[in-house]
Amino acid sequence: MSSQPEAQSANDPLTPPTSQALRAALGRFATGVTLITCRDTAGQAVGLTANSFSSLSLDPPLVLWSLRKASSNLVAFEAAGHFVVNVLAETQVELSRRFASSKGDKFAEGHWADGLGGVPVLSGCAAVFECQTEVRHDAGDHVLFIGRVLRLTDLSVAPLLFQGGHYRMMGEVL
Ligand SMILES: Cc1cc2nc3c(=O)[nH]c(=O)nc-3n(C[C@H](O)[C@H](O)[C@H](O)COP(=O)(O)O)c2cc1C
Repeated sequence: MSSQPEAQSANDPLTPPTSQALRAALGRFATGVTLITCRDTAGQAVGLTANSFSSLSLDPPLVLWSLRKASSNLVAFEAAGHFVVNVLAETQVELSRRFASSKGDKFAEGHWADGLGGVPVLSGCAAVFECQTEVRHDAGDHVLFIGRVLRLTDLSVAPLLFQGGHYRMMGEVL
């Protein structure tokens, strides 16, 4: 008996992957962890933990991320002209857990300042990308956000990682 997960043929278009299989395979792809923030139309700070962040273009400087349509944060991000991608340092795992939950005041922990457009910027991050919302795309059960990077901060501290459903720290350089 093999304990290997069932391999799925890439040549069989009639068998879409189950959500569980897709999630497991995507979990093989290691990412950083970000807190993405904005202000809602009432001026309230809004944010969530997201690992869908990715680089997109150097010229012009564009980045992307995606937000679940069912998220309580969707209305705020759809209306916001700016958002900030706070790339977490390995010391900030508790903030990641906090911003992945719907409970409580997410911004009660951490040192926050107002960046461009008044959007909350977190101190001590590995990097910060302050963005203007460039494009939104409907994408399945998510909305894809593309932002133009207006200002960045690079603190050169070790980033927090996420892989296989676990938070991790940087390992060996190969
Ligand atoms: C490591 C990690 C990465 C996540 N990445 C995303 C993401 O890219 N997009 C997203 O919509 N939700 C993502 N989530 C889930 C949101 O953080 C979570 O649904 C949200 O904070 C809950 O708030 P809400 O109930 O107000 O939507 C992620 C969660 C974790 C733990």
